[in-house]
Amino acid sequence: MERVGRLDSMARQIAGAVALCGLVCAAGGAAAQQSGEQIFRRNCAVCHTVKEGQNRIGPSLFGVVGRKAGTAPNFAYSEANKKSGVVWDAANLDQYLADPRKFMPGTRMVFAGLKNPEDRKALIDWLAQQK
Ligand code: HEC
Repeated sequence: MERVGRLDSMARQIAGAVALCGLVCAAGGAAAQQSGEQIFRRNCAVCHTVKEGQNRIGPSLFGVVGRKAGTAPNFAYSEANKKSGVVWDAANLDQYLADPRKFMPGTRMVFAGLKNPEDRKALIDWLAQQK
């Protein structure tokens, strides 16, 4: 009898957990917008850091908002990037990140682009704080 009682309470706990997931998981689905940092980790961190002076395959993005293109120290940029004359701001980063090669033909950044405008906004807002 004792054993049946325990099984019964376990079953109730599992049912409770499933019901809870029904609520929480649905809420998670509705709040689909990822944070800027999450978007950075998923899409950019293989090639970039936001640490000062730490270049990888791409240049450090520390302080990139407000920075002149092609000026992170000790990074071998393409001519296209160096000579672009761009000063990175929210508006041109939005265009660049949507389709890097369209915005800057000849860039060495091999990235297809972030197609979702809300993702770009969240990411750029976050990048603007990394300084
Ligand atoms: C596969 C590697 C790779 C990925 C992924 C990548 N980048 Fe880049 N990125 C580069 C390289 C390489 C450059 C230098 C391009 C050049 O010199 O033409 C660059 C340049 C840049 C620049 C210009 C920096 C400057 O100093 O002028 C910005 C801004 C930038 N990347 C942002 C991003 C963001 C934000 C993401 C994610 C959404 C991203 N990149 C994803 C490799 C990458």
